[in-house]
Amino acid sequence: MKLITTLLHFLWVSSVSSFYLNPRYTRQQNTQLQATVSSKTPLPKYPTARGDDVDARRIIATGAGRLHLTAVRLHHILLATEEMAAASLHELRSGSVSFAELAEQVSACVVTRPKQGELGWVSVTEDPSSSNSSAEDPPESPNAHLDEFFPREAREKLLLITTKPGDVVMVPSHLGYHLVQVVDVMANVRKMASQRKRRTNGSNLLEALRRDTDLTYKMETMGCQMNTADAERMEGQLQDLGLRPSEEGQNPDVIVLNTCSIRDHAEQKVYSYLGPYAKRKRNGEDVTIVVAGCVAQQEGEALLRKAPEIDLVMGPQYANRIGDLLEDVANGNQVVATEATHIMEDSTKPRRQSSVAAWVNVIYGCNERCAFCIVPTTRGVEQSRPVESIVAEVEELVAQGFKEVTLLGQNIDAYGRDMIPKRKFSDLIRIVGGIPGLERLRFVTSHPRYMSLGVVDAVAETPTACESFHIPFQSGSNRILAAMGRGHTREKYLYIVERIRSVIPDASITADVIVGFPGETEEDFQESLALMEEVRFDNVHTAAYSPRPNTPAATMEDQVPDHVKKDRLSRINDVNKRIAVERRAALVGKTLEILVEERNIRNPIQVLGRTRQGFTCYMTGDIDELRGKTVQAEITSAKNFHLVGRIVV
Ligand code: SAM
Ligand code: F3S
Repeated sequence: MKLITTLLHFLWVSSVSSFYLNPRYTRQQNTQLQATVSSKTPLPKYPTARGDDVDARRIIATGAGRLHLTAVRLHHILLATEEMAAASLHELRSGSVSFAELAEQVSACVVTRPKQGELGWVSVTEDPSSSNSSAEDPPESPNAHLDEFFPREAREKLLLITTKPGDVVMVPSHLGYHLVQVVDVMANVRKMASQRKRRTNGSNLLEALRRDTDLTYKMETMGCQMNTADAERMEGQLQDLGLRPSEEGQNPDVIVLNTCSIRDHAEQKVYSYLGPYAKRKRNGEDVTIVVAGCVAQQEGEALLRKAPEIDLVMGPQYANRIGDLLEDVANGNQVVATEATHIMEDSTKPRRQSSVAAWVNVIYGCNERCAFCIVPTTRGVEQSRPVESIVAEVEELVAQGFKEVTLLGQNIDAYGRDMIPKRKFSDLIRIVGGIPGLERLRFVTSHPRYMSLGVVDAVAETPTACESFHIPFQSGSNRILAAMGRGHTREKYLYIVERIRSVIPDASITADVIVGFPGETEEDFQESLALMEEVRFDNVHTAAYSPRPNTPAATMEDQVPDHVKKDRLSRINDVNKRIAVERRAALVGKTLEILVEERNIRNPIQVLGRTRQGFTCYMTGDIDELRGKTVQAEITSAKNFHLVGRIVV
């Protein structure tokens, strides 16, 4: 507080001095894509809010050229002395105040202070563009509008220090000391595309898009909820471009294969799936082939070598940008978009598969290195979405009539640890759970290494948060858990379960397990079975270990033979089914709250809904009347993995 008072005093002094400025903010073309560049820990000179000291002499904007960085979006706080700037940086590091709050309270820049320090997009080049000059008006830097309050010397120093979103650094100028926060970066993805002209008629796509003709697309999605959420966002963009889903039996103009590489021979599946489309193309038909998702990320350009008919290979981080990338394809490029990139907020609306329950990403990527898993390679490093964006998306969903939201993250407990100031996932549950009109909140996936008891408390205290936890345990053997690099033990896992059951006794707990991880003995496997008996899960997703390219486990010795994996998978499935049936049978006769989502496609006089614990329940009813309604239903019977009920209210 003392610091704030001192700074406010300074502010008063400086506001009567000559800082009157007249900015002209410009925005760069939105069709360009954003990309991060990773910064290595630099040498000391100027402190940063990430706690590192940065030497401005070293050019750390590594990769900027490679990624064709074009602009950075910045916020700044102007301070009179280096001491004041260092003290403010200290406050930011402590997390007691946000950059925006501090800018509003203490910045000496009267132009940006009311905008919480926002400087807008700043071009990385100071070269004048010919378009903004005339005979009377000599060419000026695209950043000239910033000169009076964020001078060129400060801009240039900043770019030498960092271009990494989230970084806050101190740079001096003749005006004082600027604390600058990099909010976002923009890169020109076009230049990342390989400039091979397409042999086929891709330009027709652009023509057709321009003429707004009747183009269709088909989206095929495999894999996890993340892929489903990505597919919904991609479909939203395709429809924004004027494309509509193809009808059954119709040849689509654009085919998007949204792939999963978590198991099995994922690449082979891509080639065999694409075969008929590639053939159509070789026969001269106009079809644009897109491979998206984790196989695209994993294989990159190799896909083009094996299947040159593919027009666009795009990793999951580009799901928000399929529209831009297709435009690039239409310009004659065969595009590979797999560079690590900063995931930009999406301005288009996803095309949701349900009108009742929606997926909302809160953190992309994963920083863990589980020895069996390819996800960190395919989905990149953790990037948390700002709370404000998440809240805005959920508020919009509620306004559209959605009742339930599932927050998504590979390791959702990591939410906010990459942010400045850091955020906690438990706080996010409370914030999103409190949005008026939202009836149910769910989240996946919890990681036993990071899951805090605060999350359990947040669920218990937030009425909308459903009593349902998905916490993969992967193995019941500490020896195998260590080999997997999971960072948790069997005991830690059981402790979390015990805590959930003591605070929320009727919570459902589901999990993932892998059998046949390299080196797994029958005794290790028995420990997984014993853990399942002890916890009594409501359901467990079981998988036989599948070696994935470029993962440590793939080259471990003691690979378990396939027939052993198969046998263990069948035995663990039996245990899972027995326990799941027993758990559901205990609900027969109870009356539960069920949110109705859809028609039962196998029996149209039935509707399908879910209990707060996430159990699917079928009930007789009219979907047009009941969709999105919360009903009370008496459970009349329990099947393997679902319930049957009778609506009572
Ligand atoms: N983030 C989650 C976690 O903390 O465990 C898991 C995400 S992963 C995409 C989903 C599941 O796929 C894992 O829990 C694991 O059981 C399974 N899986 C991942 N890699 C696998 C592999 N190589 N073989 C078999 N199953 C695998
Ligand atoms: Fe995969 Fe482990 Fe992350 S299972 S998604 S590396 S937490």
